[in-house]
Amino acid sequence: MKRLLSLTSIAAVAALAATLSAPAAAQFAKPEDAIKYRQSAFSLQGTHFGRLAGMANGRIPFDAKVAADNAAVLEVVSKLPWAAFGPGTDVGKTSALPDIWKETAKFNAGAEKMQAEVSKLAAAAKGGAITLDQLKAAVGATGATCKACHDAYKEK
Ligand code: HEC
Repeated sequence: MKRLLSLTSIAAVAALAATLSAPAAAQFAKPEDAIKYRQSAFSLQGTHFGRLAGMANGRIPFDAKVAADNAAVLEVVSKLPWAAFGPGTDVGKTSALPDIWKETAKFNAGAEKMQAEVSKLAAAAKGGAITLDQLKAAVGATGATCKACHDAYKEK
């Protein structure tokens, strides 16, 4: 009986884990929740990219190990906002421009380009091996993808 019970709880935990890993898009009860989620994700992105950019332009002392840590976090958070641009999330407290929902393919391409640059940056920084010159180049390439999308799809 004891064994049966513990099997039941294992099944319950497995079911819960499956729910938690379901696509984020299915998890927003209200459009406002999705908007808040993507803004939080972008805010984290801004923080961790900001630290890398700060090192690249000399505002923060360069430390390859710190760069690796920030690039690793950036790589994860850069994947998060996109599932929160579903239908109905174009209105409300958002600085996302309506063209996002008219030019979805272009918008998604911009998101993919950014993630590709971030992945390259994270790979170069991994293990603390990046040089300041490499960081500068990767930050420049990544920053250009942020700017391109913001210029087209984000309110000033
Ligand atoms: C494909 C488009 C796209 C790319 C690429 C992109 N952003 Fe954004 N970003 C947006 C949109 C749209 C918003 C507005 C979200 C909203 O208000 O609902 C935003 C908002 C933000 C915000 C404000 C978050 C807040 O507090 O409301 C920050 C910070 C930010 N982005 C940083 C970055 C950084 C750093 C990068 C590059 C590493 C980046 N973004 C790349 C589209 C993009």
